[in-house]
Amino acid sequence: MVFVNQQRMPRKRTFLMCPPEYFAVEYAINPWMDTDQPVDTELAVKQWEGLRETLLRLGHSVHVLAPEAGLPDMVFAANGAFVVDGIAYGARFKHQQRTAEAALHRAFYEEAGWRFMAPSETNEGEGDFAYLPRSHGGLILAGYGFRTELAAHAEAQEMLNHPVVSLRLVDPRFYHLDTALAALDDERVVYFPGAFSVAAQKVLAQLFPDAVLADEVDAFAFGLNLVGDGQHVILNNEASGLASKLAAAGYTPVMVDLSELKKGGGSVKCCVAELRR
Ligand code: ARG
Repeated sequence: MVFVNQQRMPRKRTFLMCPPEYFAVEYAINPWMDTDQPVDTELAVKQWEGLRETLLRLGHSVHVLAPEAGLPDMVFAANGAFVVDGIAYGARFKHQQRTAEAALHRAFYEEAGWRFMAPSETNEGEGDFAYLPRSHGGLILAGYGFRTELAAHAEAQEMLNHPVVSLRLVDPRFYHLDTALAALDDERVVYFPGAFSVAAQKVLAQLFPDAVLADEVDAFAFGLNLVGDGQHVILNNEASGLASKLAAAGYTPVMVDLSELKKGGGSVKCCVAELRR
């Protein structure tokens, strides 16, 4: 019997990234960060360039936000806002060490003519929000439990005009939604069930019966922190098991090395914010 993979269609995306010129692990606000472990900033920049070039080679557009000294986590651009339908819902960071990043993202959106909505509630942007444009007419998934407050989910719904489904994260290693769940295309997700409360696992199973399920090894290799364009899935090169599962589901895995940034507790998705018109 011959199995023919379903044809997957890529869609061109526009992203925002910020180079890790000042990347360092100077404080520890997640279990991956160890201030005693040395960081090779030059290598981090090279790896980040590799990710940017990969996205460009696949036909996507990448805007670059200028980094600022003293904000070592600014490379994790996904945390700066959450953008849907041309509206940028701004971030409000939980930890004081990252607070100043929010205004720099805000300035980018305002200067580039996006509709910017200032948040009142603590939320870490696309780190804790995912958008599935073709699921239920446009569905937002939102994580809480470590960084983003539940109240921000309601705020996002009011500002972005799409239903928000709240999902409780329970494992501190997977402290942002984007470390445990990703959109592969406009309607399908991949996730590691163990990162979620039992109720959230049931909700995900109900909403996404066709999801690709990842295991703890995939999640621990930062495999879920991926960017999908409908056909290609750009993911951390340590997540080879997940890459095979995605290939079997008809996607084309594209592996990138972001070992230095993993020391900050992030990988592919954390470095990339999607700008959706
Ligand atoms: N060191 C950063 C923090 O703890 C990493 C952020 C990773 N970003 C993400 N979208 N998961 O805030």
